[in-house]
Amino acid sequence: MKIEEVKHTTKSQRIAAHSHVKGLGLDENGFALQMASGLVGQEQAREAAGIVLEMIRSKKMSGRAVLLAGPPGTGKTAIALALAQELGSKVPFCPMVGSEVYSTEIKKTEVLMENFRRAIGLRIKETKEVYEGEVTELTPAEIENSFGGYGKTISHVIIGLKTAKGSKQLKLDPTIYDGLQKEKVEVGDVIYIEANSGAVKRQGRSDIYATEFDLEAEEYVPLPKGDVHKKKEVVQDVTLHDLDVANAKPQGGQDVISMLGQFMKPKKTEITDKLRQEINKIVNKYIDQGIAELVPGVLFIDEVHMLDIECFTYLHRALESTIAPIVIFATNRGKCSIRGTEDLVAPHGIPLDLLDRLMIVRTMPYSKEEIQQIISLRAQTENIQIEEEALAKMSEIGVKTTLRYVTQLLTPASILAKTNGKEKISKEEVDETHSLFFDAKSSAKILAEQKDKYMK
Ligand SMILES: Nc1ncnc2c1ncn2[C@@H]1O[C@H](COP(=O)(O)OP(=O)(O)OP(=O)(O)O)[C@@H](O)[C@H]1O
Ligand SMILES: [Mg+2]
Repeated sequence: MKIEEVKHTTKSQRIAAHSHVKGLGLDENGFALQMASGLVGQEQAREAAGIVLEMIRSKKMSGRAVLLAGPPGTGKTAIALALAQELGSKVPFCPMVGSEVYSTEIKKTEVLMENFRRAIGLRIKETKEVYEGEVTELTPAEIENSFGGYGKTISHVIIGLKTAKGSKQLKLDPTIYDGLQKEKVEVGDVIYIEANSGAVKRQGRSDIYATEFDLEAEEYVPLPKGDVHKKKEVVQDVTLHDLDVANAKPQGGQDVISMLGQFMKPKKTEITDKLRQEINKIVNKYIDQGIAELVPGVLFIDEVHMLDIECFTYLHRALESTIAPIVIFATNRGKCSIRGTEDLVAPHGIPLDLLDRLMIVRTMPYSKEEIQQIISLRAQTENIQIEEEALAKMSEIGVKTTLRYVTQLLTPASILAKTNGKEKISKEEVDETHSLFFDAKSSAKILAEQKDKYMK
């Protein structure tokens, strides 16, 4: 099994609407603070999420599932993402939406399986022979391109590495130079190069440079102790899906065209069930030997009512397997029919036998004050200024419509305010945007009133 080449693949999260949410906002006893870490109210659901978090941390939770149930816009997705933030980057969190399983190319169960494996982490500890230190020089040596034509190629690269104990100059292969460039290594960074594979890892910037004025957040690390050339324990956090991808064979031959193609698009790989079983076997062996540790993460399936009976059956079985993540579902549906059945009605559109296994957390509608607090939080993160009176009017609208509708009014209202030559949104702009854009309820009402005017 290849481990060196494993790159951690994170799914990009849909966070734009929730970028003000930074955590669950609980105190040290697990009680929810009225307003903290970007979350407002909804105390019970947040505290319940806090307990789930504890269970995940103490590893007493794998193979279980939680359902967040409540009306639209009551913060289900926000609470799930807050939980992810609390878990930190070392515990995998894989968000998906129920409707993602429907594709003409991939089987539904395949999509579910892939996401399951994205949510199971593996922490691998290995002792490796490395060259480690702060980079003191980095000089690529160029030669004329041997194929003729323009440009030069790199023949080798000279790198200087320094530790607290000594320093060394190394002459490296050009392939390692690529690795150095990919990691964006510069003089003053602390890096290590694996002796066997030549893989380069940048650990951070040497803390001697900590006073440097930096625009980007940098991680500063101390100058490594010991020799440059040494044995080092390397810890890697990967998911089972990362291992699947790294070990799957790319499709197509090794001809020039397909080589070029690889630069254009990500490699098309085929992950088979057989490969997964192989990997599971090796992973289990590593766990037994104490080289690796399983880190069950979280699979978050939003809008779970979009799944059909086949998916539910599959999920039910997958939850029973020995390596399973914690699954968090969310839905805003009440009683509705389960997809893929002949009108079998069930609470939340989830089959009763699966529902029976879930821990259900409810989210409740917000009060006017809470809506006001959330709108003002959103305005802050979006850098929008709003007058007190306008804010009060917005929360009033929020009570009658939904929280999501009013938060969505913020941006158009701020554009209106700008065209009106104002710095802050006033009540006038709120009224105007509210009359320009309809919320779901009033739109439905208009449809009902004028149904003879529309095409059937
Ligand atoms: N308690 C809260 N504190 C701060 N912001 C919140 C809170 N609840 C919801 N929000 C924000 O309000 C918006 C709507 O909430 P969210 O998307 O989480 O609702 P939902 O319950 O998932 O709704 P749906 O059922 O429609 O998916 C989001 O921008 C979210 O970040
Ligand atoms: Mg949601």
